Amino acid sequence: MIKYLGSKRRILPTLVETIGRIAGVRSVFDVFSGTARVGQALKARGYGVVGNDANAYAHTLAHCYIAAERRQMATAATALIDELNALPGKPGFITHTYCERSRFFQPHNGERIDAIRERIEQLALPPDLRAVILTALLEAADRVDSTTGLQMAYLKQWAPRSFQPIQLRLPALLNSAPGRPCRALGLEAREAAARVEADCAYLDPPYNQHSYLGNYHIWETLVRWDQPEVYGVACKRIDCRSRKSAFNSKVQAWQAFCELVAELRTPNLVVSFSNEGFIARGTMESLLARYGHLQTLTIDYRRYIGAQIGIHDPAGRRVGQVSHLRNTEHIYVVSREPIEALTKPVAAHQAARVSIGSPHDARVS
Ligand SMILES: C[S@@+](CC[C@H](N)C(=O)[O-])C[C@H]1O[C@@H](n2cnc3c(N)ncnc32)[C@H](O)[C@@H]1O
Repeated sequence: MIKYLGSKRRILPTLVETIGRIAGVRSVFDVFSGTARVGQALKARGYGVVGNDANAYAHTLAHCYIAAERRQMATAATALIDELNALPGKPGFITHTYCERSRFFQPHNGERIDAIRERIEQLALPPDLRAVILTALLEAADRVDSTTGLQMAYLKQWAPRSFQPIQLRLPALLNSAPGRPCRALGLEAREAAARVEADCAYLDPPYNQHSYLGNYHIWETLVRWDQPEVYGVACKRIDCRSRKSAFNSKVQAWQAFCELVAELRTPNLVVSFSNEGFIARGTMESLLARYGHLQTLTIDYRRYIGAQIGIHDPAGRRVGQVSHLRNTEHIYVVSREPIEALTKPVAAHQAARVSIGSPHDARVS
């Protein structure tokens, strides 16, 4: 899995267990699927899953991990990955833009990424196989990049992993359970909400102004392979300036969220939202309580790696520290039937402390 801001890796056990306690849930709609790891964990447990994300790279990850079936893909994908791993490098857009003009990859890897991506394009693969192979390429590139996990900047000194030769591996594909179909969409959240019926929706929207497209612009280019005009030190795609998500806007996020919840066609709902986000707990609870029985879990965990490393000037000198190194995530659970099980503690896991509250514990702010 790629390094990803806001990935739910560490709270996955709590999320899966929480969804498991909602009566009658057999299918889940992950509206902001990102790395697809939540949908992947649910598919592994036999749920029918629909994964959706507006960015092309995240849609590709959902296509690979949620929609594609291991039994149909594994043999062909393994053979193709072997072929791609044997290709010699050939400099192209990635080498020029992200190894010479900027320094996200070492040239020996940039040249191989160029050669592999060109070959994938020439092959005009069927959609499921294409998503699996592109995912293998994204994950391989992520293992040798020279960043802290965000593509708004690259490291001043090469990251140790960037010296390793890029190597594609078969993604951890899954088979869906009988009668529990899984699929992936690449739509704006509200548009997707109007189209999907499922027993439960999982909402993990961006919670602040930091755009996922801007933070993962190279993955977007690797998937689209449109060789866009770029700008700035990080060589971001020009459309980072125009393709904005309402959920990244302090002014628009609340209305977009209310519209999304109103549009959903799912009787149950689970929402992840940080205490640092645009929508305060009390405000969120006053909205969600209208849709069913509401409980809120609070999880305390370490912030992303960039926050751990601190604030640096362009010369790489540490000039400050971020205000705090821990993050609090609220998980709001809205169910058609009351969930008696949530009155017991959700299983504790290593990275996080979990507490449980009801709406009246929250301060409205
Ligand atoms: C917090 S991340 C989700 C992380 C995911 N749960 C995981 O564990 O990897 C939010 C995601 O929302 C997507 N996104 C942002 N705005 C969107 C919109 N308007 N419609 C659909 N997806 C959007 C971003 O591309 C990003 O992947």
